Amino acid sequence: MPPIDIAADSRARFASFDLTSVPSPCFVVDEAQVARNCEILAEVAEASGAQIFLALKACSMPALAPVVTRYLAGTAASGLHEARLGREEFGGQVATFSAGFKPEDLQEVLALSDHVIFNSLGQLRRFHPLVEEARWNGEDVEIGLRINPQHSEGWTDRYDPAAPCSRLGHPVSQIRAEDLAGLDGLHMHTLCEQGFAPLARTWEAIAPTVGPWLDALSWLNLGGGHHITQPDYDRDGLIALIRRIREDHGVEVFLEPGEAVVLHSGILVGEVLDRTENEVPLAISDLSATCHMPDVVEAPYRPDLLGERPEGTGGEIRIGGPSCLAGDVIGDFRPATEFAVGERFAFLDQTHYSMVKTNTFNGVPLPALALWNSDTDQLNVLREFGYDDFRMRLG
Ligand SMILES: Cc1ncc(COP(=O)(O)O)c(C=O)c1O
Repeated sequence: MPPIDIAADSRARFASFDLTSVPSPCFVVDEAQVARNCEILAEVAEASGAQIFLALKACSMPALAPVVTRYLAGTAASGLHEARLGREEFGGQVATFSAGFKPEDLQEVLALSDHVIFNSLGQLRRFHPLVEEARWNGEDVEIGLRINPQHSEGWTDRYDPAAPCSRLGHPVSQIRAEDLAGLDGLHMHTLCEQGFAPLARTWEAIAPTVGPWLDALSWLNLGGGHHITQPDYDRDGLIALIRRIREDHGVEVFLEPGEAVVLHSGILVGEVLDRTENEVPLAISDLSATCHMPDVVEAPYRPDLLGERPEGTGGEIRIGGPSCLAGDVIGDFRPATEFAVGERFAFLDQTHYSMVKTNTFNGVPLPALALWNSDTDQLNVLREFGYDDFRMRLG
């Protein structure tokens, strides 16, 4: 059977979703799609012997915890708050990495986490007494070092932790075997939305150096950025590599994907507020690129509009947000409808790196949050935000 095209499948499922059944703006996450992604990841875990954590930085919606923890081994956190969320809301194991810990946070992080991963040998040494103290107090915590393989597979420096001069991970060329005494594991994260081949090449580049170090350690965390749930991802290749690393070096292997867990699972619903024209047809909507989909501006990228007409069919409309920022533009789209004032529309694939990055610039309201199940059509509007949420953050 050919692999399911999950992008097309998600488009078809959301085409049946009534966009007026939720407030606007609103993130709607399909838990059935998250479950399908998690099933694929669980199969990879089972076949390879790896343990897979959800990287909370991509999506940390507590309402997804029951489905995520049914399939995955735990969460990967980026600091104290995510570690607490992982421990309190998701359960399973918690692996916490931060590029820079504060001593006052670290005590709690050590208590909340199964693995704490430092970004440099300097932090590792400085915080050694705190780690010892936590262990003395009965915390069963393992310690790792993030290495920078100095092997770049990135397509843009902004999303390439292995780019020259990167601050992320201790450069592998500066590490000696004796620096790793007392450590439990190594961590590396160098990919972004990538297939298996870049991971394989990275491993081949560092294996002669890192392999012998691993022989004395317990685990290797291969980070995130693996697009494992995409239909064309070489999962057999990944499974074989993980098995080889485990067998050759006697270590456990962890993966911490974020995006792959929630790929194609969510939409962001918006409403047309006004239609104008200035050389091109324009639409002002209650969706803001800068407040609700900041990666549209930062990455940058053009999201997919649900039900968009094919290229070359004309009738493009430039859709932008209600804020004062001239660049608060989501892009030029070909809606299948008139796009009249009051009409609802939605952008696809909006679960990852969107709701975790929203802000209230200009007092623009935060999108509501809803959980939907495309198998049962059950809908649950979890949370709506108002003035108090805006006011509370401003002192
Ligand atoms: C250390 C670390 N782990 C995991 C991830 C998750 O990556 P992704 O969502 O691309 O799979 C990231 C993303 O930046 C990361 O920095």
